[in-house]
Amino acid sequence: MKLSIIGTGYVGLVTGTCFAEVGHEVTCVDNDEAKVKMLQAGGIPIYEPGLEELVRKHTATGRLRFTSSTADGVENSEVVFIAVPTPPLPDGSVDLSFIERVARDIAGAMTSYKIVVDKSTVPVKTGEKVAETIKRYSKTKVEFDVVSNPEFLREGFAVEDLMRPDRVVIGVSSQRPVAAMREIYEPFDAPIVVTDINSAELIKHASNSFLALKISYINALSVVCEMTGANVMEVAQGMGMDKRIGRRFLDPSLGFGGSCFPKDLSAFVKIAEQTGYDFGLLKEVQRINAAQMDRFMKKISDTLWVLKEKRIGVLGLAFKQNTDDVRMSPALEVCQRLLKEGATLRVHDPKAMEKAKALLPPSERVEYVADMNAVAEGCDALVIATEWDEFKRLDLERARREMTHPILFDGRNLYDVAEMEALGFIYKSIGR
Ligand code: UGA
Repeated sequence: MKLSIIGTGYVGLVTGTCFAEVGHEVTCVDNDEAKVKMLQAGGIPIYEPGLEELVRKHTATGRLRFTSSTADGVENSEVVFIAVPTPPLPDGSVDLSFIERVARDIAGAMTSYKIVVDKSTVPVKTGEKVAETIKRYSKTKVEFDVVSNPEFLREGFAVEDLMRPDRVVIGVSSQRPVAAMREIYEPFDAPIVVTDINSAELIKHASNSFLALKISYINALSVVCEMTGANVMEVAQGMGMDKRIGRRFLDPSLGFGGSCFPKDLSAFVKIAEQTGYDFGLLKEVQRINAAQMDRFMKKISDTLWVLKEKRIGVLGLAFKQNTDDVRMSPALEVCQRLLKEGATLRVHDPKAMEKAKALLPPSERVEYVADMNAVAEGCDALVIATEWDEFKRLDLERARREMTHPILFDGRNLYDVAEMEALGFIYKSIGR
């Protein structure tokens, strides 16, 4: 089918590319001319495993093209997907101005029946507003349908999640767009849930909040494990074997971050508040997440005492593995807090160093180190802040030799406690 995607951020670019991969003809639209030029030339603005190859493949097959003209995208497609940012406002609610703007642009460009699909994460009832806006600004008064089709991809696994989704959610207010939506997703071979628009929009916020809740649950449990001498990894394993619970998203950490969970939680709390419901459970999820970072920092200062003039190696800057995204990254927060306490940092990330430099500029006190195994040199302590697989294969013998003191704070539980102690490290992790 002929599809257009407005917005080439994470969701838009990966969605458009995967649609091309399964045979659709896709026009990706972005108002950032420089980005469009970069994409047209085969460049990729983000690091996402498998994406670059697919973009190259389908710019060559002609099934994927990029333009900065919304009118071009709308004219050349039967279905228009909106995938623009919905950033948080200072009070935690969602800034819907990009969505509203795109709805007006689409309205101005429509000359025949279109299905307008919202893929961005939006508060419940946004679909109704989008429909009202298109109706108001449409010059030709052509017919259209608005559909909600939330995205559940994880950064770092985006292509994999999109090509093999657990489910596809389609929210509609009439039956007319259903057949086309089914046709778009038929090649992905996933169960399709067809529901009303408000339910579809809620499924997205409810899913992300529930996953964040799962992480805060295990993080809260990690505190109880530390107090009682239990091992949170064993507890997670034992709990996760119950199919009703499941092991995934039960990895204790220094807290969740990224551009989705923190923002979506705040938005969902706000949405509930506007309906008159105080979603205290989710506020507690936020509180536990903030406390987890505080506890981790306290472990560092309890062990090292004064941080001023201490040299600390930090492994990881991205908010999680397999991405170069540093937005709301707990790893960056660790760095910033250590700097505030007067420490000097040697930092490394396999993919996120360039992006991190904007938020954590290199200086006399922040040295970016290209080789992960060289980070420990001359350090009083090492911190693992992101769960990159390569950090499980550090040259620990070398680290111990080159550090002034072999102390490792592991915010992601990548190593075994007994093995680390046998290697001569003072090893502090989460919930063990
Ligand atoms: C999340 C959801 O997982 C996706 O389903 C959703 O589509 C996406 O938000 C979105 O709304 O766009 P993402 O933010 O890319 O995806 O990353 P996650 O893999 O969910 O990780 C989020 C944070 O939780 C990271 O900081 C990660 O390190 C942390 N985490 C994750 C844990 O601390 N423990 C875990 O067990 C899992």
